[in-house]
Amino acid sequence: NYYAILMAGGVGSRFWPVSTTDFPKQFHDMLGTGDTLIQKTFSRLSQLIPKENILILTNERYNDLVLEQLPQVKQEQIILEPAMRNTAPCILYASLKIKKQNPNAVVVVAPSDHWIEDELQFISNIQRSFDYCVLQETLMTLGILPTFPNTGYGYIEFDKLDTRPIKKVAQFREKPDYPTARKFIQSRNFLWNAGIFIWSIKAITEAFEEFQPEMYEHFMNGYAVYNTPAEKAFILENYPKADNISIDYAILEKAQNVYVLPATFDWNDLGTWGSLYDKLPKDKQENAIINAKVLLENASNNIIRTENKKTVVIDGLNDYIIVDKDDVLLIYPKNKEQEIKAIVNKLK
Ligand code: GDD
Ligand code: MG
Repeated sequence: NYYAILMAGGVGSRFWPVSTTDFPKQFHDMLGTGDTLIQKTFSRLSQLIPKENILILTNERYNDLVLEQLPQVKQEQIILEPAMRNTAPCILYASLKIKKQNPNAVVVVAPSDHWIEDELQFISNIQRSFDYCVLQETLMTLGILPTFPNTGYGYIEFDKLDTRPIKKVAQFREKPDYPTARKFIQSRNFLWNAGIFIWSIKAITEAFEEFQPEMYEHFMNGYAVYNTPAEKAFILENYPKADNISIDYAILEKAQNVYVLPATFDWNDLGTWGSLYDKLPKDKQENAIINAKVLLENASNNIIRTENKKTVVIDGLNDYIIVDKDDVLLIYPKNKEQEIKAIVNKLK
């Protein structure tokens, strides 16, 4: 009864110019391990979940990339979205599809672009959550011990006195502003949301019915054609009409039956150049160098990446992102990395 919903439809624009709309970061070998992020994620999940029970949701323009990078996946396992609508529609749609195949399924919903090294701990955390969700109608989140007031994450409040390994969530807050995030960190009873969820198909579809009744009804209209040849036309016509909203705002902030298991594996969401920098080996001056020949003077804490081992000469530059890719050269301060997303939009 184990299933996975693998979300692979984001564009990773803060990793521009390497990640682009035509070739987003989940299809890149960002860490230089020889595998792309989606390949790593798939192999991690398939240690616990039968390969044929892993559904991949992505934009239709990435179909070929998925087939090429995951040759073990059949076309029926790939759900192609005609438009980007964030994670709530993607999760509801996949859940209804699974429900039709197996109403007793329990699923893990996972992003395709995270760094998780300790696969054994990851698997054991998922197994544990599955066991819990088989018995109760809970929405399980995995919590990460926060280290700074990151405003790009969801925050999970738990009861400090609750010593059980799986805790009831008092409050889920998606992407709070900086002062709020700081307050959360100081109060020490908040965890970051890893963005990995575990629940039964029953629990998640009921949550949608309650908190997103319009979206639920809209997608239920096509239920009869799910997993049939007529499904494609239904998606093409109806998917773009769904609200553009993430699962965090749509369900987790609203539901009362949210639980958290503090994760026992190291986690990094590889959301920005800085988070990638943290995971890479560095030289004596703390420069991380990917695919480049460098001559550096008075240069520290930079991340430098080129294609084809270009020679890079730098004198007197610290804490910068330097990325050379085809017809783009990015030289940008690390502490403004969140703004890269806006720059990409400006350039369009
Ligand atoms: N199929 C599909 N369709 N996938 C999508 C879409 C879509 O329209 N939009 C995003 N995704 C995928 C992304 O590729 C990524 O793997 C995952 O869904 C999460 O989306 P992000 O856009 O990366 O979310 P986020 O980083 O802003 O926030 C989420 O993750 C944080 C941890 O990394 C939230 O769940 C936060 O609460 C969490 O802390
Ligand atoms: Mg993310």
